[in-house]
Amino acid sequence: MARKKLWGGRFSSGEDPFFAQFNDSLAFDRRLLETDIDGSIAYARALERAGVFTRQERRKVERGLFSVLEDSRKDPEAIARSQAEDVHTYVEETLKDKIGVLALKLHTGRSRNDQVSTDLRLYVIRKERSIEKGINGLLELLVSLAEKHLQTIVPGYTHMQRAQPVLFSHYLLAYGEMLMRDRQRLREAMARAGVCPLGSGALSGTVYAVDRDAIARDLGFSSASHNSMDAVADRDFVLDFLYFASVLMMHLSRMSEDLIYYNTSEFAFVQMDDSVSSGSSLMPQKKNPDALELLRGKCGRVYGHLISLLTVLKGLPMTYNKDLQEDKEGLFDAASTVENCLRMAHTVLQKITVNPDRMREAATGGFLNATELADYLVSKKMPFREAHGVAGRIVMRASELDVALERLPLREYQAFSPLFQDDLFERLNLERAIARRSERGGTAPTAVRLSLRSFRRRIRK
Ligand code: ARG
Repeated sequence: MARKKLWGGRFSSGEDPFFAQFNDSLAFDRRLLETDIDGSIAYARALERAGVFTRQERRKVERGLFSVLEDSRKDPEAIARSQAEDVHTYVEETLKDKIGVLALKLHTGRSRNDQVSTDLRLYVIRKERSIEKGINGLLELLVSLAEKHLQTIVPGYTHMQRAQPVLFSHYLLAYGEMLMRDRQRLREAMARAGVCPLGSGALSGTVYAVDRDAIARDLGFSSASHNSMDAVADRDFVLDFLYFASVLMMHLSRMSEDLIYYNTSEFAFVQMDDSVSSGSSLMPQKKNPDALELLRGKCGRVYGHLISLLTVLKGLPMTYNKDLQEDKEGLFDAASTVENCLRMAHTVLQKITVNPDRMREAATGGFLNATELADYLVSKKMPFREAHGVAGRIVMRASELDVALERLPLREYQAFSPLFQDDLFERLNLERAIARRSERGGTAPTAVRLSLRSFRRRIRK
């Protein structure tokens, strides 16, 4: 059966059935139903201003549109049964079933080109709001964990080699900073998406006096777009979102990677809760950190969507081309991936068991206080480069004897330099080493307490 099209007039033959399937976007752009209806209501008001609709007509259209939305809330699968090409066609057809031919006036001066961009911008902005809530939830959780672990000492690593001891709070707040930047990027993306294309027509603008500023205001945009050609051709706002999403996922992935090896029996710094782990079908002893592995793994698909859209856009001539329909599935998938991952990360961290004794044990071995040794010599006026060399040789000696630096006898030290005295040993203490990093941004408890306080303030901004 031939379908009714929005554009059937100049066609003499019907569509190839496979082309129809290939071309249709309803299966995925149905997610734009709500924003399409909001956009249509604002446009109906614009048409009333332009004298195309009387007040009564506009009201009838508006009521019809509300009832399309209501129907679909009652029966979300109704849309899937429809034969419509895309969500815009679906809304128009369903509206016509409800209010008759008046529905056909709604498209006066409007093109699906300015319509789809408007719908998608509204969608992105609304998603961004809910994603920001997810980020805030995770930030609050990181802060509360950081508050609990102001005394917990853990090795800090570079090159995956134990480097210097740090407070676990300091480590957690490092991820907090990353998420804070993500939130900033999200807000910037939202601001750039807040420009309204409606009233740009197919590409050249509109002959109807719709008052584009009023449309923008009605829909909650901060302004109307400046150039009708750019307005229908532009998908930078989707790229902005995908870039934000990619960086956020990269951060979650890095954190997951840390927690995955912290959770191994070799490290045993943390333990994943049973409720977010799974077993092996063959090896009965296994408890795998699947939630974290998926958080790490799902980063890939979001990067993919970013690269995919960048590639779709790179060769497009002005202005609208159907290639742009390929902007949606990646965006939808990235948005739900980010929402799900933020939620999963929250649950994992909320239920994590931290093992401060194991962390401390690891921070005690591995000569993490070797830098202190060099600093000690510097405080006795030895140049740092030389001190670094002496400390290195002492580390070699201590590892031959298989003792920690704080257990190596003073006479061993004095064989390397007469500058070593009894006061050395309190300097080698882990708490002391940490407390000395007290400049802003360092790991000393005084500095971390300050940054916790400012962090809490920044979250609430
Ligand atoms: N489904 C289309 C899309 O997502 C809607 C716009 C169609 N415009 C057109 N000129 N064919 O891009």
